[in-house]
Amino acid sequence: MPPQNIVILGTGGTIAGRAASASDNIGYTAAQVGIAELLAAIPGLTGAGTVLTEQVAQVDSKDMSFAVWAKLAARVSHYLAQPEVRGIVITHGTDTLEETAFFLQALLAPAKPVVLTCAMRPATALAPDGPQNLLDAVATARHPGAQGVVAVCAGVIHGAADVQKVHTYRLDPFSSGDAGPIGYVEEGQLRLVRNWPQADAERAPGAARSISSLAGPGAVPRVEIIMNHAGAGGAIVQALQAQGVQGLVVAGTGNGSLHHELEAALLTAQAAGVKVIRASRCFSGRVLPTPADKIPDSEGLSPVKTRVKLILQLLA
Ligand code: SIN
Repeated sequence: MPPQNIVILGTGGTIAGRAASASDNIGYTAAQVGIAELLAAIPGLTGAGTVLTEQVAQVDSKDMSFAVWAKLAARVSHYLAQPEVRGIVITHGTDTLEETAFFLQALLAPAKPVVLTCAMRPATALAPDGPQNLLDAVATARHPGAQGVVAVCAGVIHGAADVQKVHTYRLDPFSSGDAGPIGYVEEGQLRLVRNWPQADAERAPGAARSISSLAGPGAVPRVEIIMNHAGAGGAIVQALQAQGVQGLVVAGTGNGSLHHELEAALLTAQAAGVKVIRASRCFSGRVLPTPADKIPDSEGLSPVKTRVKLILQLLA
């Protein structure tokens, strides 16, 4: 008999938000309702196996920190190692969900499903979207063959590498860009259109080291994101270099192009040992490399995910 138990880890977000009035979908405080209380409001969630809950954090995800990531990654690793656990669901704010999803996939590449879910309306709304998203996330975590870190919102399953928040208000605020979603959840059933994220059993030892480094004070390498734009110059790069920045991700224009003044400053920083990577500020597409490139590209990752990857590389 395959393992049946699902663990639901609460981290906060709008899904746990409270507003003074049921008709207010934006004037709420995120991260107020505990995970156990959220689940109590959803009949039929338990299904065949046990559902275990744990409140790992209670934050508005705009305030996501390395300390919370370290704690979350440690709890996810702990539960993934339990033979009776089939999968993990994480409730999370939408604002930085894509960063946490990518962080967990890059760190753990789990062979079991880790499903992040969220809401655009607070728990107190007239028609909250969180309960259905949670049901869909649990259905995804229970699906035979499900693996890797994914996000489930508004009935769509997105892979950790591709998911991006693209809308400020709609109930379906995520897109997987050119890659498209992994699938859809329809009345508790999954309709898959492409593969799950790849699992890699070799990640575990390195992951444990990175988690303890993330938790240590001042141990996280400083990696900043800067953007190319009309009139961009090199002063910000020089200022960051003077402060000892270890990595810079530049969100270039179009195919990762850079204002010549910004590029000159980045090349100087790179020559001095700062790790520099060129992503694009475009939502879709990837930076296509050319033989003339002097700064490596982000291999299809968005600027925020490139930053997470670089931090993990520097930690390793
Ligand atoms: C948050 O990201 O924690 C607040 C916004 C949201 O969840 O939609």
